[in-house]
Amino acid sequence: MDITDRNVLLTGASGGIGTAIAECLAERGARLTLAGRNKEKLDIMASRLGGGHRTISADIATPGGRQRLVDALAGGEPDILINNAGTLDFGLFDEQEPDRIEAMIHLNLLAPILLTRALLPALESRPEAAIVNIGSTFGSIGHPGFASYCAAKFGLRGFTEALRRELAESNIHIHYLAPRATRTELNSHPVTAMNESLGNATDDPATVAAALVELIARDRGENRYMGWPEKLYVRINSLLPGLIDRALARQLRTIRDFARE
Ligand SMILES: NC(=O)c1ccc[n+]([C@@H]2O[C@H](COP(=O)([O-])OP(=O)(O)OC[C@H]3O[C@@H](n4cnc5c(N)ncnc54)[C@H](OP(=O)(O)O)[C@@H]3O)[C@@H](O)[C@H]2O)c1
Repeated sequence: MDITDRNVLLTGASGGIGTAIAECLAERGARLTLAGRNKEKLDIMASRLGGGHRTISADIATPGGRQRLVDALAGGEPDILINNAGTLDFGLFDEQEPDRIEAMIHLNLLAPILLTRALLPALESRPEAAIVNIGSTFGSIGHPGFASYCAAKFGLRGFTEALRRELAESNIHIHYLAPRATRTELNSHPVTAMNESLGNATDDPATVAAALVELIARDRGENRYMGWPEKLYVRINSLLPGLIDRALARQLRTIRDFARE
């Protein structure tokens, strides 16, 4: 799918990965609707990107916020929906507050599902359309310290796959992009320190944006896993999960130390 002159709704546009995606798509001639809760940040971004883009502030974890987005898009239907907004709460499961768990599942899983549902008629009205759900390596590998986040991203991957198969004969290409650890503010200091200590590689947000542009260019929906060896671990985990169990068991003490920080 060609990006030039496409209307794109990008959630989480003001974040680390969102900003890189916005820059990449704007350079390629897309017309962006940048969404997030902080209007001022979005407006600064839109003016930096040049004319033709607009901003909408909305909390997409709420029905009212999603409706604001849908209403604002009426008449300028999106060709591409990028479900990118997300949050992360690193910690041991028995120390996580129930309301934080609920908020994370709402934003990372329910919000993209319900926003997709609300915008489906608009996407179906376009000659060609795409949905990209931003998942994570942790949408395929259950990792200690990230139980609720993994639950949400596993769910998002399942939703993407099922919807892609259900809409196989439609005009919509449905993609799932799974970045590995990426250098943004999503990762708290303990997560960054844990990654350094375990020798986990991290990507620049621009690398994620470039992968997304490549994915949209494909003529059919796909899952794309980023990073080496992460994409190999994803395969191993699905075929021989015991190997990953044992590898993570060796790291458990370190992970628990950082999760308690
Ligand atoms: N960074 C990583 O290591 C990594 C790795 C794999 C996958 N991912 C995924 O990549 C996506 C982007 O992550 P990031 O690293 O760019 O995170 P980030 O820098 O923390 O940005 C998060 C974005 O989500 C928006 N947001 C948060 N809560 C919201 C809400 N209730 N309603 C609407 N917007 C909301 C934030 O804007 P406001 O606060 O202004 O609303 C911000 O634009 C997420 O889905 C994340 O799970 C990230």
